[in-house]
Amino acid sequence: MNIAEIENKYTSGVYAKKTLTIVRGQGASLFDVDGNEYLDCESGHGVANLGHAHPKIAEAISRQASTLITLFESFPNDQRAALMEKICALVPGLDRVFFCNSGTEAVEAAFKFSRISTGRKNFVAAMRAFHGRTYGALSATYNKKYRDGFEPLLPGFCHVPYNNIEALDQAVNEETAAVILEVVQGEGGVYPASPEYIEAARRICDERGALLIVDEIQSGFGRTGRMFAIQHYSVTPDLLTCAKSLAGGLPMGAVLIGRNVKNLTPGVHGSTFGGNPLACAAALAALTVMEEEDLPGQSAAKGKYLKEKLQEINSPSIREVRGLGLMIGVELKQKAAPYLKALQDRRILAFNAGLTVIRLLPPLVITYEQIDHLVDVLTEVLTTVQGDE
Ligand SMILES: Cc1ncc(COP(=O)(O)O)c(C=O)c1O
Repeated sequence: MNIAEIENKYTSGVYAKKTLTIVRGQGASLFDVDGNEYLDCESGHGVANLGHAHPKIAEAISRQASTLITLFESFPNDQRAALMEKICALVPGLDRVFFCNSGTEAVEAAFKFSRISTGRKNFVAAMRAFHGRTYGALSATYNKKYRDGFEPLLPGFCHVPYNNIEALDQAVNEETAAVILEVVQGEGGVYPASPEYIEAARRICDERGALLIVDEIQSGFGRTGRMFAIQHYSVTPDLLTCAKSLAGGLPMGAVLIGRNVKNLTPGVHGSTFGGNPLACAAALAALTVMEEEDLPGQSAAKGKYLKEKLQEINSPSIREVRGLGLMIGVELKQKAAPYLKALQDRRILAFNAGLTVIRLLPPLVITYEQIDHLVDVLTEVLTTVQGDE
């Protein structure tokens, strides 16, 4: 049996498996089992912002692996303390942090913190939102595709149209614990929030005593051209969830916590692996690389360049090109799948956001040469490949 056949035999079945077996990465490139090179425009669903096999991440992980891998967070540790200082300096006003191991766990923590802090039970989320697949996060996730078959979900959740101030104004009341929003909706189709919407969300939450959670799990760590997407707006949330690229590819999530969040006392929440020294050392190295290489700045410049080039493609299949930094969606008038397959055949890996959007989340270290190549191939694919209505 080859590698793919072994996986197909033993997999749980919950993933739609591709035929391509990837064994190595370098920068914005991935290599298959036969050594063929692919341009990675998925970054492992938005994880590999620093690119693959970054030497400083490899060095930090290797050094820490032979020093101390695990330590429950009740014991202070040098790596964790250094990371706490660094991450809490990123957004003024968010000066405490809870560490966990994934995006969905960060969302769960933010929900628990909101309820314990406000004594209220209800949450307002947005239509098209994706916040994860565990029960709390799934209750805030909108698409039936993820929810069907798993009811009953948590009570107390409602969804309102995204970027619609009036609907939000009507939904938030004195029983709302928190509003949760992605600053740029990722899975839902790559839709950035309007500045007025984010500002109104802050005002509405303040007026009614609700907390504002921004989910930056996909949009964080330079992806949109700032360290966090919320920094494009003049708003500070009460809770900010992040994960994906935080530890340079190692599993790690975090919640940044503002001063309005109360009652976080010992035992209220916790995680065995949360804040382990190995993940902390990797995250410390990742944040240092982000600063040293100015990855947010690179993302802003390259994202602008890529978006402009994509907007110049003259194809009747394109409905709209949108996004922030290197978080870009190309919305088509037909299904994205045949085009994604055609891209893969031409050694470019991208993925969808909903049925009709080609989602591009390349590593922020992608070169301009690679971007030009991506645009050339996408132009060819979008002007020659037969669509599937
Ligand atoms: C905005 C957002 N929130 C939450 C999640 C869930 O993260 P994880 O898959 O690490 O649980 C994702 C994953 O794609 C996401 O994009």
